[in-house]
Amino acid sequence: MRKALLTIAVAATLTSACCRNKQEQTAGGSTEAVMENIMQRKSVRQYTGEAIGADTLECILRAAMAAPSGRDWRPWSFVVLTDRDEYETIFGDNFNMRMYKQSGAVVVVCADTVHMAPTRDNPDGPAVAQVNSLWRDDMGAVTENLLLAVEAYGLGACWTACYPWVERMAPVKEALGLPPTVVPYAVVPIGVPAGENTVKDKWDAARVHYNRW
Ligand SMILES: Cc1cc2nc3c(=O)[nH]c(=O)nc-3n(C[C@H](O)[C@H](O)[C@H](O)COP(=O)(O)O)c2cc1C
Repeated sequence: MRKALLTIAVAATLTSACCRNKQEQTAGGSTEAVMENIMQRKSVRQYTGEAIGADTLECILRAAMAAPSGRDWRPWSFVVLTDRDEYETIFGDNFNMRMYKQSGAVVVVCADTVHMAPTRDNPDGPAVAQVNSLWRDDMGAVTENLLLAVEAYGLGACWTACYPWVERMAPVKEALGLPPTVVPYAVVPIGVPAGENTVKDKWDAARVHYNRW
C-alpha cells in the first residue's frame, strides 16, 4: 500500500498538468493524433516573436527526456534561453541570424561526457572510460523527441547542427559557460510559426525491402 502511494506521488510529481492533458488525449485512443504529429513535423525557420511559456517549455523537455538511449545512460542536458537579446548575440554571428531573431526560446541540446562512460555511477571505476559510442544516437533521439513535442504544441522549431563543428561549438560553449565535459550538440530555436511552412512528403517505397534486400 505504502509502495503504491509512493508510486502515485512520484508519478504526480513527474507529470505536470499540461503534460498530463496531452498524455490523456493520446491514451484516449488517438493513434491518428500521434501519427499526425509525426507526419506534420517540419523544420520551421520563421517565427512571430511571441514568447513560449515556461510550462510549455518544461513539457517539451519532459517529452525530449522520454527518449530511448543506449544502456539507458541518458547523456543529455539542456540549456534553455528565453532572453532574445542574449541568444541573438550568441547565435547570430555563427548560425543563421534570421532564424533566431524571432524565436520565442532557444534550447541548446547538450551531451555530457560524464554520462557516457561506465564510471559515471562509479567514480572509483576504471580511469580509462569506455566511452559509450552510442551517445550520438542518443542525442539524435532526444532531439527528435523535442521536435515532435514542439509540433504537438502547435509550435515550430528547427534542428540546427552544432556538434561536430568547432566553429559552431566554441562560441556556444564560451557564451553559456559550459563545463569542459559538456558538448553543445544541437541548437533548437522554438517559436510560434510564421509564414509558409510546408511538410515534405518523404515516403519512398523503393527504400523498403521486405525479407531480403
Ligand atoms: C543533424 C541535423 C542537422 C541540421 N542542421 C541544420 C542547420 O544547421 N540549419 C538548418 O537550417 N537546418 C538544419 N537541419 C534541418 C534540416 O535541414 C531539415 O530537417 C531537412 O531539410 C528536412 O526538412 P524537414 O525537417 O522540414 O522535414 C538539420 C537537421 C538535422 C537532422
